[in-house]
Amino acid sequence: GEVSMNGYEHYMLKEIYEQPDALRNAMRGRLNDQDATAVFGGLNLTPQQLRSVERIILTGCGTSWHSALVGEYMIEELSRIPVTVEYASELRYRNPPIENNTLVFGITQSGETADTLAALNETKRKGHRTLAICNVVGSSIAQASDGGVYLHAGPEIGVASTKAFTSQCCVLAMLALYFGRMRHMSFETGGRIIEDLRRLPATIEQALTCDAEVRKVAEKYQSASNVLYLGRRYNFPTALEGALKLKEISYIHAEGYPAAEMKHGPIALVDADTPSIFIMPRGTTYDKVLSNMEEVKARGGPVIAIASSDDTEIRKIADDVIMIPEAPEFLQPIVSVIPLQLLSYHIAVLRGCDVDKPRNLAKSVTVE
Ligand code: G6P
Repeated sequence: GEVSMNGYEHYMLKEIYEQPDALRNAMRGRLNDQDATAVFGGLNLTPQQLRSVERIILTGCGTSWHSALVGEYMIEELSRIPVTVEYASELRYRNPPIENNTLVFGITQSGETADTLAALNETKRKGHRTLAICNVVGSSIAQASDGGVYLHAGPEIGVASTKAFTSQCCVLAMLALYFGRMRHMSFETGGRIIEDLRRLPATIEQALTCDAEVRKVAEKYQSASNVLYLGRRYNFPTALEGALKLKEISYIHAEGYPAAEMKHGPIALVDADTPSIFIMPRGTTYDKVLSNMEEVKARGGPVIAIASSDDTEIRKIADDVIMIPEAPEFLQPIVSVIPLQLLSYHIAVLRGCDVDKPRNLAKSVTVE
């Protein structure tokens, strides 16, 4: 049946605001304090099979490929299992050698993306275990894989993915905790991660209050023809996702880049009409990203910072600042993507674009 807009002007906006609840649903029943780990009912693998995993491949398309990149950082940091991220459309035809004890996760909101389905079927045919991280229950990919984890994010109608992305990142964080606890991670660290995860929905609620500020930034930059999105580590995939959101619904050319790679090419694009959005909450690479920002500013490019709420100094350098609440680094992408979703939304509305049904795009792409 028809999903109600619930008073929102667009499904995309409604789904952006549903994210705190979507995250609560993704975590419901999956955090276990007794063992300081995550629990999943549908992996369908024996503890022995799970313990012997030596590599994880994460594959998907579009936004789901971006959450795979976030998952790579999370799983490698928290569980120390090597992770490879592959575009589903390349995985199949690139035909990479895959070692035994490799677990392949297909990440997909719809569960119907043809490229992802084909990649999973191909790796399964070669004898590897395939699992799905999927939103739509009973979808083709959910059925074709050996098992998996449902997001429980509820229907996502807007073509540009929002709550599915943050829910996928949340599930990947729980998987990182799970695999970590199965290996070397201490009970104390596991317990701390559970606390971090439990705080997340409230943090996202707080992050959503940036909307008025974001709208001002949207008005200022709505006529741009090119926008750069820059971030490092966990916020590099967020930069890619921010750029994709802007391209998808407002038809503005945008590029996401690791902030430090900027100087090896994209900095040549910087001019007074090309804004650069730096995703730079406090963390390991903050100082480096700050100097990247100064380089852009020195070349006359407008700079916008997505920064931690206690970062008062940043206002002296950045032309515009959008504050986001504190979060541990591994959860930052889930928080920092919020203003980027809202920014693309407001710019698209200001430009008169069809937010929920952008031209040339489909919610799920069932051709290869
Ligand atoms: C389409 C949609 C994107 C989505 C991608 C993957 O291109 O327009 O928003 O990220 O498919 O979809 P999936 O359902 O597999 O996550």
